[in-house]
Amino acid sequence: MSRISRRTFFEGTGAGLVASSVPLRGQPAPPAARTVPQTAIKLTVNGRVHRITVEDRWTLVEVLRDYLGLTGSKIGCDRGECGACTVLVDGKNVYSCSQLAVWADGRTVETVEGLAQNGKLDPLQQAFIRCDGPQCGFCTSGQLMSARALLNRNPHPNAEEVRAGMTGNICRCGNYNHYVESVLAAAGMRSAQPRTKA
Ligand code: FES
Ligand code: FES
Repeated sequence: MSRISRRTFFEGTGAGLVASSVPLRGQPAPPAARTVPQTAIKLTVNGRVHRITVEDRWTLVEVLRDYLGLTGSKIGCDRGECGACTVLVDGKNVYSCSQLAVWADGRTVETVEGLAQNGKLDPLQQAFIRCDGPQCGFCTSGQLMSARALLNRNPHPNAEEVRAGMTGNICRCGNYNHYVESVLAAAGMRSAQPRTKA
């Protein structure tokens, strides 16, 4: 079966033919970029409304990280495989590297930065720490957001349901059991005991 990479896809749309760099936050787009199709969109990110003009080829994660400065969402594979870029769009966990920002026009987006409230970590984040979930940290924000989506739709999952809910998030260090334990603890399905290192 032939594979179409994201680059091939974007080039196929004609939107990727003009080379330009993403302007830094607060700076106007360079002249070359002005010939690229752009669209004014409205995003509600972590409860805050943003009205911004984006190039039609920009992915959601690029806008979150490069334009809004929300760098908690990571770019791992940049091709819809690892889950490091996972955010919630209208409550559903999606790979933000595989969503164009224009597709999110009018939608609500939640990122890992929105989990803590009033300086207090979300119970899920607290459970991740207690259960020694994060190792590299690079995949953790995506793991958290998939776990948040799961608990929003199923507040008391069993271990199998947690594994299924987080199946799109890869942990290269193989810390899956700790992540599952963390989500179960956050859901009150298991007590979160601090882990002792071997
Ligand atoms: S960076 Fe988006 S799935 Fe890997
Ligand atoms: S904890 Fe990030 S890859 Fe395993």
